[in-house]
Amino acid sequence: MITADRLQSVQEYYFSKKLREVRGLVNEGRPIINMGIGSPDLAPSPKVLQTLKEAISDMGAHQYQSYQGLPQLREAIADFYQSKFDVTVDPAGEILPLMGSKEGIMHISMAFLNEGDEVLLPNPGYPTYAAVTNLVGGKPVMYSLKGENGWFPDLDELSQMDLSKVKLMWVSYPHMPTGAMAKKEQLKSLVNFARSNDILLVNDNPYSFVLSNNPTSILSIDGAKDCTLELNSLSKTFNMAGWRVGMVLGNKEHINAVLKVKSNMDSGMFYGIQKGAIAALQSGPEWFEALDEVYNKRRELMFNLVEKLGCEYDKNAVGMFVWSKLPKNASPSEEFIDQVLYEKDIFIAPGTIFGSNGEGYIRFSLCVKEEKITEAIERF
Ligand SMILES: Cc1ncc(COP(=O)(O)O)c(C=O)c1O
Repeated sequence: MITADRLQSVQEYYFSKKLREVRGLVNEGRPIINMGIGSPDLAPSPKVLQTLKEAISDMGAHQYQSYQGLPQLREAIADFYQSKFDVTVDPAGEILPLMGSKEGIMHISMAFLNEGDEVLLPNPGYPTYAAVTNLVGGKPVMYSLKGENGWFPDLDELSQMDLSKVKLMWVSYPHMPTGAMAKKEQLKSLVNFARSNDILLVNDNPYSFVLSNNPTSILSIDGAKDCTLELNSLSKTFNMAGWRVGMVLGNKEHINAVLKVKSNMDSGMFYGIQKGAIAALQSGPEWFEALDEVYNKRRELMFNLVEKLGCEYDKNAVGMFVWSKLPKNASPSEEFIDQVLYEKDIFIAPGTIFGSNGEGYIRFSLCVKEEKITEAIERF
């Protein structure tokens, strides 16, 4: 059977292919240390697990669930945004729970893009933005992020471009893969840029609670809801990546458009998962402190490894990764990571999978136990 034309516009996800190769090496008995992917290895809180267990005996637990999620889940998300970001959102119409923020990228694109509409995408950035834009027939227009500008777009330069066909712009602060933070003033300038060019801006914000002592939401900018959506996720903040719980927040009109797509694609999120998600969102400060304590220790060790390799990095970056420059005179990123993989049995992500501006960089995940990072240091 001939596949749809749209499949020509995307490739299998880099990690889907590369992790197959890495698994092959593991099956050969090689002691691979995987520092590639950001899948939290830590457990959710015991309260979350207990809540899930208890929920499976509740009346109606196994029936189809509401397309908009349980009202209590939306209320828990609203309370979370109020207490953590000082952002007020109406649980009745300004929040839509998602099965991970990744699906939101597709739903938002389907809700707002017509064939040929242009989409501004970060280079480097999360590869899914471009893949989804292509799948729905949009046209990716990459904007350049550079270390010397703090991985923030040059909005003056962007304003000189013909933006008449641009409908959507993706940003993610704290930024993946570089860990750069955007200051409030910078978020404000992004919102102003979107408003004055009639663009729907989406901030993808899943890393705001990993090693960032100042979590920020773009919705805290005055008037942002007019032209901005925010995606967030429980994957990294609560070690629940496999549960698939995320959310999109914005004004009622935008959220309704996303719901129109989503309600035609799934039939609600499993009740027990929603109950567990509520418990997670209600976690006290000790949860966030404990999470940072683990990642802080790992990051200190990772800095040692990165220095041992002769790479430069930014100590002030946040999030779940250490983004580093390749050592001087090293081979290009993909060749370099293959050398490390085959000679030292350590898998690191090459910067190029996040776009051409990622050439010359590599990304180390902090989802690796301390003893494994120590072992990796010893291998060098
Ligand atoms: C920038 C960014 N956005 C979204 C996601 C997807 O997260 P979720 O698990 O909520 O779908 C990831 C996952 O790695 C990510 O790095």
